[in-house]
Amino acid sequence: MSTLSSSHCSASYSSTFNGRRQRSTKLSSIPKRFVPVKSARNSYQNLVLLQDVSSTMTPIENDSTLKKLKDGLLSATSSEECEDVVGFDSNDKNSTVSITVVGASGDLAKKKIFPALFALFYEDCLPEHFTVFGYARSKMTDAELRNMVSKTLTCRIDKRENCGEKMEQFLKRCFYHSGQYDSEENFTELDKKLKEHEAGRVSNRLFYLSIPPNIFIDAVKCASLSASSANGWTRVIVEKPFGRDSESSAALTNDLKQYLAEDQIFRIDHYLGKELVENLSVLRFSNLIFEPLWSRQYIRNVQFIFSEDFGTEGRGGYFDNYGIIRDIMQNHLLQILALFAMETPVSLDAEDIRNEKVKVLRSMKPLQLEDVVIGQYKSHTKGGVTYPAYTDDKTVPKDSLTPTFAAAALFIDNARWDGVPFLMKAGKALHTKGTEIRVQFRHVPGNLYNRNFGTDLDRATNELVIRVQPNEAIYLKINNKVPGLGMRLDRSNLNLHYAARYSKEIPDAYERLLLDAIEGERRLFIRSDELNAAWALFTPLLKELEEKKIIPEYYPHGSRGPVGAHYLAAKYNVRWGDLSIEQ
Ligand code: BG6
Repeated sequence: MSTLSSSHCSASYSSTFNGRRQRSTKLSSIPKRFVPVKSARNSYQNLVLLQDVSSTMTPIENDSTLKKLKDGLLSATSSEECEDVVGFDSNDKNSTVSITVVGASGDLAKKKIFPALFALFYEDCLPEHFTVFGYARSKMTDAELRNMVSKTLTCRIDKRENCGEKMEQFLKRCFYHSGQYDSEENFTELDKKLKEHEAGRVSNRLFYLSIPPNIFIDAVKCASLSASSANGWTRVIVEKPFGRDSESSAALTNDLKQYLAEDQIFRIDHYLGKELVENLSVLRFSNLIFEPLWSRQYIRNVQFIFSEDFGTEGRGGYFDNYGIIRDIMQNHLLQILALFAMETPVSLDAEDIRNEKVKVLRSMKPLQLEDVVIGQYKSHTKGGVTYPAYTDDKTVPKDSLTPTFAAAALFIDNARWDGVPFLMKAGKALHTKGTEIRVQFRHVPGNLYNRNFGTDLDRATNELVIRVQPNEAIYLKINNKVPGLGMRLDRSNLNLHYAARYSKEIPDAYERLLLDAIEGERRLFIRSDELNAAWALFTPLLKELEEKKIIPEYYPHGSRGPVGAHYLAAKYNVRWGDLSIEQ
């Protein structure tokens, strides 16, 4: 059994009212014995490979102080977010974290994982003793890995000082081990190297599996049996796809659990690490004006919209086996929906939040085929340039029916949301790139100003838009009097535009999630029952689509997607907010 010893894990953080730790120097004035032992709950029994380090834990000596800290009643704010290393005592010479990126030469590792680790290092968020190991099949020296990684690193636009120096320091901590994903022997060699770097300290090990699903279990088995920490924690981050339906997902979970306890598995959904998704709960639960409106009584419909202005571009091989419903809806959009619609959790603890999310997922009505529209992009020529069709991708079968676009109407069968359509729309090769949540409110009953809007009452509807990306923003469309002697109304925005309001660059989702995994914070990771509920919702629909070989509606590359999506929305008296004239 293992967990990060409490004294390491909690030296300088508190859960504030929004559940994130505030990195703070002020907290250092709070005696260490009083700080919350966040990861004590993360320990697990019966894990053959890990040993008990509970003897090194600092007991919580004052529960009420802990509670106050957790509830955010003690001030622990600082503008320097990572001034003190979260979850670690940066002066602790006795523990170390080794992060092994399995699949180090892959795209995700290069584009996201190494840059995120560097960003954390740059912001002083990593513990004093840490090592990054790349693990992959290709032969590479440490110098070659460093060279590869160095090409992907960038510095914060808002903080360029010492960037070169920091990069050098970071790269010196990066090493490489070449090995097969199914070779216990190769993982034993890795273990040996990790031990050399750990130099007798308490060893905490994080494995990031950035590899295709067919070799997942082999790698987990080898890492677990041959390279687990002997005296600290071992955690494994796994990337989707977590199966392709209920059965394969359950089989994957079963296989994983042969080698790992649930607490060791960090199933990543990087959308949960996005700033505005994390802000959803703050918006709802800490503003009096929103929560009372958050129900069928005032909300007419909610829209979750994901669009990309590029096609599958080289990922066709993977994508064709999954399609947009599995790639985006079943996870990213559904996770946002669950956070949006959940009841108030008992606390901000991971389990309390995930309990509420699971309840939403389990309360959803089975998805009906007639409430779904699928599409696939076709070639389109514009301005002399021809944009390819999905099936022009050489890795995609010419007769593929895999949807690259889908729209769906979902319903939550509970007292709060009965009858409210939750519309989802996700597509590739559309006219724009962006993700947003749109909340359309009901019409004002007996609105005195109805005549100012003519017959189109929708024009007077308040709409709250949470733009997740790009140009993060939250804005509320209201009706307003145009200044002047007459009585002319218009629709104006109460606008919180992040770039204008905050000078700080928004961290990439992977930074937050990696940091959370290192800290043992599970709130933003998917628990296995959440995953099961998500698959239970989508699997029958996916099977029906595939068994009936439903032909997708073809839409031109770069267009606004299939017309069918409008009919689907219209069926529930809804207009897509992103396509309204005002947009
Ligand atoms: C991934 C999907 O999960 O998310 C990709 O597999 C998609 O198809 C990507 O492009 C989008 O992520 P982001 O963060 O760029 O919006």
